[in-house]
Amino acid sequence: MNADPVQLPLLPFGTFLLLRDLIADRFGVWFDETKRDMLHVKLGDRLDDLKLRSFVDYYYLLKYGSEAEWPKLAETLSVQETYFWREMDHVRAFVDLLLPQFVAAGHGPIRIWSAACATGEEPLTLAIALEEAGWFRRASIEIAATDMSAVAIEKARRGVYRERSFRAIPPELRAKYFVPAKGGWRIVDTVHQRVKWGLANLTIPGDFAPHAASPFVFCRNVFIYFSGATISKIVASFAEQMPKPSYLFVGASESLLRLTNLFELERIGGAFVYVKK
Ligand SMILES: C[S@@+](CC[C@H](N)C(=O)[O-])C[C@H]1O[C@@H](n2cnc3c(N)ncnc32)[C@H](O)[C@@H]1O
Repeated sequence: MNADPVQLPLLPFGTFLLLRDLIADRFGVWFDETKRDMLHVKLGDRLDDLKLRSFVDYYYLLKYGSEAEWPKLAETLSVQETYFWREMDHVRAFVDLLLPQFVAAGHGPIRIWSAACATGEEPLTLAIALEEAGWFRRASIEIAATDMSAVAIEKARRGVYRERSFRAIPPELRAKYFVPAKGGWRIVDTVHQRVKWGLANLTIPGDFAPHAASPFVFCRNVFIYFSGATISKIVASFAEQMPKPSYLFVGASESLLRLTNLFELERIGGAFVYVKK
């Protein structure tokens, strides 16, 4: 794992560009020239596993070989940093302000999509917050959660979390919604079963079209890895599917302002939300 770049075969600049573009095309993840070493090391792990001697060989394998390598590359590229109660201003704006307005105006159905959910902390945070506010007793709510990483989705389906996932959730909610289990703490079934898990690649509209037809889309902390052009394309695809009105939440460090005019940015409570009217 994580080999030293000096012990790896060289990654010549031309090969870096070929691999970078192939990866951007398939997964959206963008390695600019300042991230060449990072890509070198990440792909070095794949070369090692496959006993390949050069990065050009790896390029040819991806481009002309079997599809079987792509899911493995997805795992290599997937950064699954996430935790419960992350960027709660969005969740509060959704649960306390937007959802009551949405229901009072007679809109429906209430469908939520967590579009790059990693190991599941984000959709489970939404489910806990909705449960705490009594929403599941009042309305029928669907939560779908997807990611490109099969390993992450498998962990989300298992629903067992380690200490670092709990860094921000209030202790009383942790005690209420998690039980000790082998390898960590397990989310209680009543909340876990509120979420339907699946695989979807954000660069493949056919993968996510059914989910994007949701009025509430959380796509947070994934666009930071993409180029502006890719983000614009994905957001246009979301805008096509999402109903009116609908609400797109992106991470606090991510801005769509220069990338799309298909949504209006609004301040709702303590959060900024992209609104399709
Ligand atoms: C940092 S996590 C974000 C988790 C969560 N949304 C949050 O804000 O805490 C980024 C996730 O994006 C996923 N990802 C990256 N590229 C993707 C793509 N093209 N399609 C779907 N998921 C992708 C990664 O696998 C990873 O799990």
